[in-house]
Amino acid sequence: MRVFVAGATGAIGRQLLPRLAAAGHEVHGMTRSASKQELIRQLGAVPVVADALNREQVSAAVADARPDVIVHQLTAIGPVNPRRFERGFALTNRLRTEGTDNLLAAAHAVGVRRFVAQSFAPLYTRTGGGLKTEEDPLDPAPARELRGTLAALRHLEKVVLAAEWTEGIVLRYGAFYGPGTALATGAEQLEMIRKRKFPLVGDGGAVYSFVHVADAADATVAAIENGSRGVYNIVDDDPAPVAEWLPELARMIGAKKPMRVPRFVARLFAGEVGVVMMTELRGASNAKAKRELGWRPAHPSWRQGFAAV
Ligand SMILES: NC(=O)c1ccc[n+]([C@@H]2O[C@H](COP(=O)([O-])OP(=O)(O)OC[C@H]3O[C@@H](n4cnc5c(N)ncnc54)[C@H](OP(=O)(O)O)[C@@H]3O)[C@@H](O)[C@H]2O)c1
Repeated sequence: MRVFVAGATGAIGRQLLPRLAAAGHEVHGMTRSASKQELIRQLGAVPVVADALNREQVSAAVADARPDVIVHQLTAIGPVNPRRFERGFALTNRLRTEGTDNLLAAAHAVGVRRFVAQSFAPLYTRTGGGLKTEEDPLDPAPARELRGTLAALRHLEKVVLAAEWTEGIVLRYGAFYGPGTALATGAEQLEMIRKRKFPLVGDGGAVYSFVHVADAADATVAAIENGSRGVYNIVDDDPAPVAEWLPELARMIGAKKPMRVPRFVARLFAGEVGVVMMTELRGASNAKAKRELGWRPAHPSWRQGFAAV
């Protein structure tokens, strides 16, 4: 198939392009920067330069490539201050709203067969126990600084799933780790843990569903080739509370045990979003992706995955 990847040079795009090429697909990779064209070629794809927020450029790029499938992996996250979460996510929110609309319009014009888009599994409703499935609602009452992020994700999911002329597929990825992510050697979050600047808040009860970016890319290839309209959680087999994974990760990298801070102190330094992220998130189930996509993560648990990274 001809596959057009928007977000070809990012953490997930860099894993995805070579896998698609190796599977025999003709891959077109989009970037804003002419200087990243060579990287895209090296990853096995044809480079396309376009700004996702410019509708004419996106239409022209897609019309040129005439893909069977479009994959939307656009984000612009960068370092995030949890107290200024909305500011840190403003551009990503635009990519998830205007960027999605632009790609969908371009996709409709050439009649793509499948449209696969990135969403995020950790933002399910924070009520109820157990693992969240694709049927559970996203957080209906998010912390104030998360409202824009939730609204943008809802928009993306709604328009992708509602597009009747194509098979719209939403992949709710778990928290990424591995090469190119914030949880990689030398990267932001790992360095914070090393410097004891990543404390355990309250009971550390937020349950994280992680996924290695290479596994996320494998699942994405499976969705591109065999997915059906709908949502899939792409997470590992071993959701774990912060109180479990954070001290273990600190130990693995030879850092001192994380400091413990009560919720009210964390709220002052990291805002409500920081407290939610450390105490209230729920884990997600990967049963549907395994059942319907035949996907199995090569790193079924963050325990082996972190150690490998
Ligand atoms: N599920 C998760 O946990 C999750 C999900 C997403 C991101 N993250 C984390 O966020 C961090 C970095 O993310 P990032 O947002 O900087 O992403 P990134 O991994 O650098 O990827 C962003 C991609 O979007 C493209 N892009 C952004 N704005 C664009 C525009 N206007 N037009 C065309 N393409 C555009 C970039 O292309 P060019 O720069 O080549 O133009 C790039 O290919 C990483 O640590 C990653 O792990 C985590």
